[in-house]
Amino acid sequence: MFSTHLGRYLVLLLATTNVFGIEVTDIQGPAFKSPLVGQTVHNLTGIVTAKGPNGFWISGAPVADTRVSNGLSIFTEDDSIIAQVAPGDMVSLSGRVAEFRSNGSPNDLTITEIDNPANIEVASHNNAVEPVIIGRDRSPPTQQLSALDTGGDGFLAVPNNSSRIDVTDATLQPDKFGMDFWESLEGQLVTIPNPVALDFPNSFGEIWVRGDWAVTGLNSRGGLTITLGPDGRPDANPEAVIIGRPLDGTRNPKAFLGVGLSDITGVVVFQFGFFYVLPLSAPSIITTPTPEVPVTTILSSDTDECTLTVGDYNVDNMTPRSPTHVNGVARHIATFLRNPDIVFLQEIQDNTGSTDDGVVIGNLTLSALTTAIASISGVRYNFIEIAPVDNEDGGEPGGNIRQAYIFKPEKFQLVPGFPVGGSLDSTTVVSDVSGGLTFSFNPGRIDPTNAAWIDSRKPLAAAWQTTSGHRFFTVNLHLTSKSGSASTQGDARPPVNLGVDQRTSQIERVSAFVQTILTEDPNANIVVAGDFNEYVQTRSAFTSLQDILFEADEIAGVDPVERYTFLFDQNSEQLDHIFVSGAIRSRGVNVEHIHVNNWANATTVTARPSDHDPSVAEIHLC
Ligand SMILES: *[C@@H]1O[C@H](CO)[C@@H](O)[C@H](O)[C@H]1NC(C)=O
Ligand SMILES: *[C@@H]1O[C@H](CO)[C@@H](O)[C@H](O)[C@H]1NC(C)=O
Ligand SMILES: *[C@@H]1O[C@H](CO)[C@@H](O)[C@H](O)[C@H]1NC(C)=O
Ligand SMILES: *[C@@H]1O[C@H](CO)[C@@H](O)[C@H](O)[C@H]1NC(C)=O
Ligand SMILES: *[C@@H]1O[C@H](CO)[C@@H](O)[C@H](O)[C@H]1NC(C)=O
Repeated sequence: MFSTHLGRYLVLLLATTNVFGIEVTDIQGPAFKSPLVGQTVHNLTGIVTAKGPNGFWISGAPVADTRVSNGLSIFTEDDSIIAQVAPGDMVSLSGRVAEFRSNGSPNDLTITEIDNPANIEVASHNNAVEPVIIGRDRSPPTQQLSALDTGGDGFLAVPNNSSRIDVTDATLQPDKFGMDFWESLEGQLVTIPNPVALDFPNSFGEIWVRGDWAVTGLNSRGGLTITLGPDGRPDANPEAVIIGRPLDGTRNPKAFLGVGLSDITGVVVFQFGFFYVLPLSAPSIITTPTPEVPVTTILSSDTDECTLTVGDYNVDNMTPRSPTHVNGVARHIATFLRNPDIVFLQEIQDNTGSTDDGVVIGNLTLSALTTAIASISGVRYNFIEIAPVDNEDGGEPGGNIRQAYIFKPEKFQLVPGFPVGGSLDSTTVVSDVSGGLTFSFNPGRIDPTNAAWIDSRKPLAAAWQTTSGHRFFTVNLHLTSKSGSASTQGDARPPVNLGVDQRTSQIERVSAFVQTILTEDPNANIVVAGDFNEYVQTRSAFTSLQDILFEADEIAGVDPVERYTFLFDQNSEQLDHIFVSGAIRSRGVNVEHIHVNNWANATTVTARPSDHDPSVAEIHLC
């Protein structure tokens, strides 16, 4: 490694552990880690760019090599040392070169810094401090995060955590890879012109933004959607960056998706799993997008027997004990989704919510919802559910979340003749007395004792018949969660996508079940929808659905950047999907994602009933 990009330091390293006459850029070098770790440097000079609670940052003389940062963190917790310098001071100092990673963050990258600074001398004051203006001086790449994400699914590839940046310590390729780009500015003062917020602030008031530079995946609200890039690999949106706590103690504003902020100048650091810009001072809100959420254009028809409108909504731990929550979801379904004929619901809690008291039935939760919808719109839904075994399906302890359907009984009913399944009954495809296909338990759960469903929600399958006799089959699913996954900008590459192996086998179980229907009737009308907790760009997880089920967005030709139902970190992303069988696909499908929750303004974020956006589709059964 030294012989390739750091040959000149070899002599220094061998000669002594005390080095003189070096520059900040020598310390940073062109790779992730410093070539001079452990060395004590003397007479290091630079201009102070910013001060923080744990030291200050300097900028040294720049070099033409864009892989090499000329910014550096000078770490000290000694306030008297910090008090000796001010931004604009030309200083010289000595100290030890270190790669710092905070305790308890083994998946973080290290920060190059000088610790134990000493001999601080201020040569002059009020020198010009010139930030790098991103978008003018340097621009981030827009597709990939790391050269180590080598699989076909890029940052979403499996196996995950197959290599580590810290171990490889490759020479940076800042024009190609986002993590390399931000690393090449580590410790440097940068300006983000015209930042636009990509999400609500997190619980620490930190906000993801893009700036005035080229981006890909831009959606109509101003967010960055996970899409497939031109190279056919998932686009990880490396051109976004998170704005941390302002260095002067001011507070970031309550931004939300699409909000325009004043220019941000701050220092690039790595902490809490991501490259951050720590602003000198909090930005202010300059522009806000229109607060209105469009209502769906997909309308239910009582007279068209062939056409069905299908809603899908993860209602986030709904309990009858929170009328505000129930009424909020009811208003969404009645007003913004315009009462679809059937709604696939996920995260319906039992009648006593998260109280861990052995209650599993959720009929009060569902009747509270359907009553609330009726009082808003006059539409009366019936509901069906299968209660899980107490605390066996994951989610909030005691809550017993399950999937359920609400549906318009005057338009269609469950195919009669077979019993409702219990929590451990496995439903199968059978013929009824008329020779038509139905399920042995209707509704019933799919293979509920299979290992794929351990500690996770079992899919709810149902066979339906319209008043004029057309049959269709539905599977409502809620796959195991991603929680505990590694940050997208962490050390492990590709990032650890927790539960992806379980989600993959869950999708395989559903695929096998759907195939048993299609074996009996290749033209069966089948809708599989719900919260998959996975993006279709994680193609390895969806392989088993290939040529069996087709995603509504794909059939409808929805612009890929508008395919999102969730905001997480920098990304607008789609966790919720509606898939249909070939027969339905052949008649055309329409679908819309209604951003009732993720377009919420900052005033309403805490009051929004769910963090998922619902979807509405129109399908034709005949
Ligand atoms: C290097 O720093 C030391 C300690 O601050 C100082 O005494 C010395 O004059 C400096 N040497 C040069 C060449 O600047
Ligand atoms: C992902 O990484 C974790 C942690 O290294 C490992 O336990 C898991 O098996 C990996 N899963 C996949 C699907 O690569
Ligand atoms: C990645 O794998 C290594 C072992 O190779 C393990 O020590 C580390 O914890 C894993 N990282 C994550 C984020 O799971
Ligand atoms: C936020 O939403 C609430 C409720 O819909 C509305 O009253 C308020 O005017 C909105 N505020 C902004 C800044 O859009
Ligand atoms: C809920 O289920 C219980 C037990 O089957 C039943 O007694 C009750 O009437 C149901 N309530 C509603 C509102 O459906």
